[in-house]
Amino acid sequence: MTEITFLLNGETVQVSAPPTTTLLDWLRDGRGLTGTKEGCNEGDCGACTVIVTDDLGAKALNACILFLPQLHGKAVRTVEGISGPAGQMHPVQQAMVDHHGSQCGFCTPGFIASMAAGHLQGRTDHDVVLAGNLCRCTGYAPIIRAAKAAEEADVPEWMEEYLSKLDGTVGSHPPYAPESADDLAAWYAANPDGTLIAGATDVGLWVTKQLRELPKVAFLNRCADLRGIEIGADTITFGAMATMTEVEGVLDHNHPSYAAMVRRYGSEQVRGAATIGGNIANGSPIGDNPPALIALGATLHLRKGDLRRDLPLEAFFIDYGKQDRAPGEFVTGVTIPKSAPGLRCYKLSKRFDQDISAVCGAFDISVQDGKVQAARIAFGGMAGIPKRASAVEVALIGQPWTEATVEAALPAFAADFQPLSDMRASAAYRLTTAQNMLRRYFAEMTGQATDLMQVSA
Ligand SMILES: Cc1cc2nc3c(=O)[nH]c(=O)nc-3n(C[C@H](O)[C@H](O)[C@H](O)COP(=O)(O)OP(=O)(O)OC[C@H]3O[C@@H](n4cnc5c(N)ncnc54)[C@H](O)[C@@H]3O)c2cc1C
Ligand code: FES
Ligand code: FES
Repeated sequence: MTEITFLLNGETVQVSAPPTTTLLDWLRDGRGLTGTKEGCNEGDCGACTVIVTDDLGAKALNACILFLPQLHGKAVRTVEGISGPAGQMHPVQQAMVDHHGSQCGFCTPGFIASMAAGHLQGRTDHDVVLAGNLCRCTGYAPIIRAAKAAEEADVPEWMEEYLSKLDGTVGSHPPYAPESADDLAAWYAANPDGTLIAGATDVGLWVTKQLRELPKVAFLNRCADLRGIEIGADTITFGAMATMTEVEGVLDHNHPSYAAMVRRYGSEQVRGAATIGGNIANGSPIGDNPPALIALGATLHLRKGDLRRDLPLEAFFIDYGKQDRAPGEFVTGVTIPKSAPGLRCYKLSKRFDQDISAVCGAFDISVQDGKVQAARIAFGGMAGIPKRASAVEVALIGQPWTEATVEAALPAFAADFQPLSDMRASAAYRLTTAQNMLRRYFAEMTGQATDLMQVSA
């Protein structure tokens, strides 16, 4: 048990609860705030969306995979607090009524929370804002119309969060939420069997779906020195706790193709919680960042106690479920070059939005005087780990940059990868699409139109 303090719909609350209590369970069972719905309980449907505000601003998050200690010192606004204190409707609520945006209504509170968060942020990219909210009966057109109609309305004054109200009540932080990388290093060295929790978009599911007990946990969200993003003359270093939303903001300027892929990573709510450190540390063979980072030649930063070490990211992934990380060692950040004009990232999934990749390929090929001078190619979904296509690279380097070279390199994919068949894709499909991604890269880099979105209805 521990004390957690935050603002709930403008009022300070102090909660004593086991650390892996989800916000959704606490709101519904502990607080009787049943407006926030449980649909999937795994971050996919958005029925549980709430607005969370911290010193970096307001964002929509899924309450079902958010643990209470992640909210310490922040403000939470549920659908009950989105309407005014005298029952006044928020402009997005009024617009949903006017535009017939709700039928059975089960998904509506989640939509309202996402729309109100988007409204607060002044967003007009409603498809992106709402991609993490599923509606089974209204259809999306009236909902998007409602979001558009509310764009110009002022933010109601009751939506203002006064985090300063918490001063004095936050007091000492919960013991399992270290305030710095130093504190975390000491705790983890002493508790190497503990579980680190960053954004909880993986760990949340261990609790809600696998019903796992996590007896010893540390929440990393209060380690401000793990959150920073440093943009140097030639490099960018992301702190392990930088969220995918923050990462996307930086990539937009420096690596637009990578940024476009990140926009298809989970949903607005997932990107607002998931961290780049968690996406690397979990060692998933289908995480979306590792292929892009490996193609960029990223350096991973690790720390154990006072010992720090760096290694090329590709060396971190040893085998399925096995990474080069000692007990008590954690990821502090990752560094990439600031510029890589040849980088292109392709994510293939069954659904365009909010789906895990079947295959994810990243290419960075440099051509000089018509010849391939250097090539870094990496894939997710093709092996038990995110992996470089070394044989394909060898087949390309030194050759003229032509379609014939690309075609001649295609058989090398079978030397690099023996992919699995699973529910996402068959082995043969994976191999063929990986080869097609190289064809696509060549087409794109030689000025041919490749974006299928341009021919969508
Ligand atoms: C609905 C949904 C959609 C998703 N879509 C995608 C997607 O499109 N693409 C994709 O790649 N992933 C996706 N994911 C998976 C998930 O978002 C990522 O793996 C995420 O990046 C994990 O980061 P986190 O901060 O939430 O990690 P957590 O869940 O907090 O932790 C994940 C693991 O990493 C460890 N860990 C965390 N931080 C550190 C650290 N600094 N040092 C050492 N260990 C650490 C934890 O102990 C745990 O083992 C999705 C998940 C959900 C629920
Ligand atoms: S209940 Fe579906 S995202 Fe939370
Ligand atoms: S209104 Fe019924 S699911 Fe959306």
